[in-house]
Amino acid sequence: MNYLTIKDIDNLNEWVQQAIQLKKNPFAHQNLGKNKTLGMLFFNPSLRTRLSTQKAAIHLGMNVMVMNFTGEGWSLEFEDGAVMNGGNSEHIKEAAAVISQYCDVLAIRAFAGLVDRDKDYAETVMNGFKKYATIPIVNMESAAGHPLQALADAITMEELKPAHRPKVVLSWAPHPKALPQAVANSFVEMMQLQDADFVITHPKGYELHPDVVKNSAIEYNQEKAFANADFVYTKNWSAYRDYGKVLSTDSAWMVTAEKMKLTNKAYFMHCLPVRRNVIVTDEVLDSPQSVVIQQANNRTFAAQLVLKKVLEK
Ligand code: CP
Repeated sequence: MNYLTIKDIDNLNEWVQQAIQLKKNPFAHQNLGKNKTLGMLFFNPSLRTRLSTQKAAIHLGMNVMVMNFTGEGWSLEFEDGAVMNGGNSEHIKEAAAVISQYCDVLAIRAFAGLVDRDKDYAETVMNGFKKYATIPIVNMESAAGHPLQALADAITMEELKPAHRPKVVLSWAPHPKALPQAVANSFVEMMQLQDADFVITHPKGYELHPDVVKNSAIEYNQEKAFANADFVYTKNWSAYRDYGKVLSTDSAWMVTAEKMKLTNKAYFMHCLPVRRNVIVTDEVLDSPQSVVIQQANNRTFAAQLVLKKVLEK
């Protein structure tokens, strides 16, 4: 079993309930991973993903090996049939096969390059490892998705769910740099599995991949979208159509206390790291409505559930 996208979740409600049980008793399965090794490869920086996934593995009794590939590993070639007389030293065929000798499960972080949309959405790195590794692969954020984050978000929303069908808003917010669409994509896909009134709000031009958005509602007026919301999930992403471009840094899209007053005392969610007073004001982030630390905590139990399922298979 691999965990590469939200589509690998066969029953979201069951998964969320099982993760909540793991949170209550994290060491209940501490023999499951005995003498098994989790390899973690990072092609990009991380705080939460690295520590929460490592902690999840420790809860299950696994050994963990972490490698920061950029700067430490050989530069990899992903193209089959490549004449390797350029800058890349090792082909994914050997790298994935060799790592499979040392590890029982392989978790990988490899962000979008934001230059070549087709290459990013082909998930070259993740699919290269999937093709040539002989062990299960877990996505710790790829070019187009962050399914561990989305699972942690679903756990958090289950813990906080109101008695009524919730209104959930995914709001774009400004950021000075071009960021991938991965978190937003996986959150949208996760919301499509939930019984909720779900709305995406962003400036025109920031439409996500149509295959991700499908029939989800888009509201270009952020304040209208916030009306009566129970959850406000905020995230910046760069343009999908005008790929990788920052089309706006308009601070009018920052989440403020005034905007949160339009909601039904909504919980404020963000995957972190977050730029204070750019994406969201201090006032909102430091308020009791902010549940970003609870989300980060639930990353451990999302990862633990995935690793448990992988080990059980
Ligand atoms: N949310 C998240 O994935 O955090 P890191 O980038 O710090 O791992």
